[in-house]
Amino acid sequence: MKVAPSILAADPLNMERDVQRMVDAGADWLHVDIMDAHFVPNLSFSPALTAALHKRFPELPLDIHLMMTNPEKYIDAFCDAGASVLTVHAEIEADIPALLEKIRARGVLAGLSVKPGTPAEAIGPLLPHADMVLVMTVEPGFGGQKFNQDMLAKLDALRRMGYTGLLEADGGISMKNAALLRRHGLDVAVMGTAMLGSADPKADMAAIHAL
Ligand code: DX5
Ligand code: ZN
Repeated sequence: MKVAPSILAADPLNMERDVQRMVDAGADWLHVDIMDAHFVPNLSFSPALTAALHKRFPELPLDIHLMMTNPEKYIDAFCDAGASVLTVHAEIEADIPALLEKIRARGVLAGLSVKPGTPAEAIGPLLPHADMVLVMTVEPGFGGQKFNQDMLAKLDALRRMGYTGLLEADGGISMKNAALLRRHGLDVAVMGTAMLGSADPKADMAAIHAL
């Protein structure tokens, strides 16, 4: 299983040091949480920081999670900044198929994220436009929250619906629940607190890669 450490859990005054530590430990992607203080009650990073991360770590795929009410205005900015994956939320008022296809047209993997309260069935018609589904295992907005085990059934439901693309989960993932998530077909684990705070991220990532 792949690991995408989330920079929301990094020390903002030592971002380069913390990202380097994750790269040295074997991170597959870097998860960048973009929050607009509207879709979620928090404000985080910018296209400028994202571009700086890509310039400093050009080999590290950036898995950008847009927790934004109006992401359409920022698709180009984050693709220009170096996104490898760009994810929008299914709960926004927008032409989501068009958004996802615009991301694909930029040569970037199109991700679709669902909050815990959004059932898998609600995104059935959108699945053909998504290269990845990001299943939130916490309410989006903050790191360090408790993993919601009820979301395992959503992973199963998506596969039963015939979805064959990537599955990513995000929120409260740790060494204690990673194997369980893998058994439910997870491809990519977003890990903020558990990985940025790990005493031995290299060993932890090796254990997850082996799942
Ligand atoms: C929450 C973010 C998550 C968060 C995960 O809204 O989308 O990516 O950073 O952090 P942990 O792993 O600490 O729950
Ligand atoms: Zn996230």
